[in-house]
Amino acid sequence: MIRFGSLPPLYSVVTLYSVELYSRRAYSVRRRELGDVMASDLAVHVTGLRKRYRDKPALDGFDLDVPAGTVHGLLGPNGAGKTTAVRVLATLLRADGGKAFVAGYDVARQPAVVRERIGLVGQHAAVDEVLGGRDNLVMFGRLFHLGKREAGRRADHLLERFGLADAGGKPVKQYSGGMRRRLDLAASLILRPAVLFLDEPTSGLDPRGRNEVWAAVRALVADGTTVLLTTQYLDEADQLASRISVLDHGRVVAGGTPDELKSRIGGDRIDVIVRADADLVAAAAVVKGIAEGEPEIDPDNRRVSAPVRDRVAALTEVVRVLDTRGIAVEDIALRRPTLDEVFLRLTEVPDERES
Ligand SMILES: Nc1ncnc2c1ncn2[C@@H]1O[C@H](COP(=O)(O)OP(=O)(O)OP(=O)(O)O)[C@@H](O)[C@H]1O
Ligand SMILES: [Mg+2]
Repeated sequence: MIRFGSLPPLYSVVTLYSVELYSRRAYSVRRRELGDVMASDLAVHVTGLRKRYRDKPALDGFDLDVPAGTVHGLLGPNGAGKTTAVRVLATLLRADGGKAFVAGYDVARQPAVVRERIGLVGQHAAVDEVLGGRDNLVMFGRLFHLGKREAGRRADHLLERFGLADAGGKPVKQYSGGMRRRLDLAASLILRPAVLFLDEPTSGLDPRGRNEVWAAVRALVADGTTVLLTTQYLDEADQLASRISVLDHGRVVAGGTPDELKSRIGGDRIDVIVRADADLVAAAAVVKGIAEGEPEIDPDNRRVSAPVRDRVAALTEVVRVLDTRGIAVEDIALRRPTLDEVFLRLTEVPDERES
């Protein structure tokens, strides 16, 4: 990555953008057009995108539609092509084939127009350590040619919005990981982008930091920003995204709402936790007689788990049979499969990959 003096990498990207694109005029034009962009149905529209690194395809016929004003989760294992997709959509990388439109504009033909309408938060925090949070935001604003007063106003508004108002004067090196990411998000919003790309926005954060970032993303979406979020944290996509695309080997292997994905791999599961270790095998035999598939046994938690077809009938029957056999149960519950289970199924079974 090209670096400008001591500025961290995102500044270089931002600076390049600003040198290339931004003028006071561009900014006012961009703001005027934001309404049109929001009105278009698809904030992101991608068909058959291809990108090779030497012989190896990173994107291999990637398709994606993201309606404006929604959060879309791009889920996939390491090397699936998530970052490559985001970099093409953010005009940082040229695809070898296929079409991609962001905010209604072709990323290959109109990259400058696209850049005026997007924000990007990469995997690594890109704010200056020594400066305070507020000074960081003001500096971003100035990079985008906002006037001093406007930059200050925007910084204060964003600090408030991301719960950083009290910390605005503190140097960033004293911030927690969650605070840094929120500041990163704030910095990417200086220009009110119509579409925001978040590449693994909570990687490396503890649960509290993740919750803080999630809250920030929800606030953004409530404001009308479209978000494309890549993540390996499946609960993150479940929490934030209205639709999810599961990516593997550079193409979408499954897509839908979190609930649709979960039900696609076999509906509900029944979990039985027995009171005594000695009853585990007997309980598994009972569940096996009633459930749809082979039960999984988790001895550490004294739990038997299996997929079921008719949830209520299965639950009633399991309870009844366990009772007649005198097996004491600590807990019994029906649940939808977790996204982790969905994800493993969809990316590991070759037959399903083709569909
Ligand atoms: N600059 C590059 N040169 C060569 N190969 C690359 C380059 N960037 C990515 N790749 C390869 O392209 C494929 C997709 O990589 P990409 O970074 O898009 O995956 P990802 O889904 O973002 O993975 P991760 O979850 O690890 O971030 C991988 O096989 C990767 O090794
Ligand atoms: Mg990546």
